[in-house]
Amino acid sequence: MPTIKAAILGFGTVGEGIYRILNEKKREIEQQTGFTIEIATILVRDTDKKRISTPGVQVTDDIRKVFGQPQLDIIFEAIVGEEPAYTYLSEAIAKGYDVITANKTMFAAHGPALIKQAVEKGVHIGFEATTAGGVPIIQTVKNLLTGDRVHRIQGILNGTSNFILTKMRKEGLSFKAALQEAQNLGYAEADPTDDISGKDAFRKLMILSQLAFGKQPEWKTIDIQGIDKIKLEDVLEANGLRYRHIADIKIDENGNLSGTVEPVLIGPDHPFYGIDGVDNAIIVETEYLGALTLVGPGAGMYPTGSAMVNDFIQIAGARKKELITS
Ligand code: NAP
Ligand code: HSE
Repeated sequence: MPTIKAAILGFGTVGEGIYRILNEKKREIEQQTGFTIEIATILVRDTDKKRISTPGVQVTDDIRKVFGQPQLDIIFEAIVGEEPAYTYLSEAIAKGYDVITANKTMFAAHGPALIKQAVEKGVHIGFEATTAGGVPIIQTVKNLLTGDRVHRIQGILNGTSNFILTKMRKEGLSFKAALQEAQNLGYAEADPTDDISGKDAFRKLMILSQLAFGKQPEWKTIDIQGIDKIKLEDVLEANGLRYRHIADIKIDENGNLSGTVEPVLIGPDHPFYGIDGVDNAIIVETEYLGALTLVGPGAGMYPTGSAMVNDFIQIAGARKKELITS
C-alpha cells in the first residue's frame, strides 16, 4: 500500500486530535483511502513540554527539520495566529505538499492567496476545520455552489461564546467561571480575547463570505460585537428570550455585501433558540434550495481533528484518482 507522509504543525488541542484520530482509525482510513499514513514529524514551540507519547515521530521546534524530511506529502497546520503559519504553508505549497489547516486567523486573511498558490502549483488545500469546528459547512457550501447560489449565511460560529451563554443561563455560572471551563475543555483559544470579543466569529464569517460569494466585505465596514459585555443578570432576566452570538452576511442583487457580528436576544421561534453548549449552527439561504441548517460541535479536540481528517480523506481520494489517471 502506498504511504502518505505527513507533518503536524502544532500539537495542542487540535494537533493532538489529528494524531489521535489518525492512529485510532488507522485501519479504517487505510481501507477507505488505499493509503497508509505515516506521521513523520511534529512541530511545536516548546519541545520540553509534557505531551502524549508519539513513538517514532520527530518532535521539533525547528521548521527546517520539518521541511528537511525526505518525501513529505502533506502538512496539517494547527498553530496559532497569522504568522509564521502563512509563511510555513506558503512554503509547503511551493514545495508541492498538500496542506490542511484549522487556523482561521491566518486563513481569513491569507486564504485567497493560499488557494490561488495551491491551484497554480496543482496541490490540494483543506480548510474545513477553520469554520465551525466539526460541522461540515465548507464542504456543504462547496456542494451547494455547484448548482445553486447562496444569498445569505447566518450562524453561531464561536463555540466558546455559546458555551459561556449556556452555562450562565442554565447553571447561573459567572462569565469568568464559564470562560474558565471553556478553556479547560480546549474550546477557547489560548488567549480567549478573540472568542469573547466577536473577532473569531467575524473571521469565520469572512472565510464563508469568500467561499460563498467569492469576496469579503471591507473588514472595517463590519461592526463587531462580542459577548464580553453581557452580564449574568442580563442572561437570567431575559423574560424567556435567549442571547445568541450571531454572525450574519448577505449579498444583495447588486452584489453588495453587508454583515453583522453581535449578540442577539431571540425567542423560541428562532432556529437558534435550542442551540446550547459548544454547538455551532449555520443557516445557509440559497436561490433554489431555500434554507438549510447545520448544527454540531463547533470546537474541541475530536470534532476539529475529525474535520481535518475528513479533509485528509478527501485529498487522499483525489490523489488516488490522480495516480490512476497518470
Ligand atoms: P493550542 O492548544 O494553543 O495549541 C497550539 C499548538 O501550536 C501548540 O502545540 C504550540 O506549541 C504550537 N505553536 C503555536 N505557535 C507556534 C509557532 N510559532 N511555532 C511552532 N509551534 C507553534 O491551540 P489549538 O486549540 O490546538 O488550536 C490550534 C489552531 O486551530 C488555532 O489556529 C485555532 O484557532 C484553531 N482551531 C482551534 C479549535 C479548538 O477547538 N481548539 C477549533 C478550530 C480551530 P507548544 O505546545 O509548544 O506551545
Ligand atoms: N475558539 C474557537 C471557538 C474554536 O470557541 O469556536 C473553534 O474555532
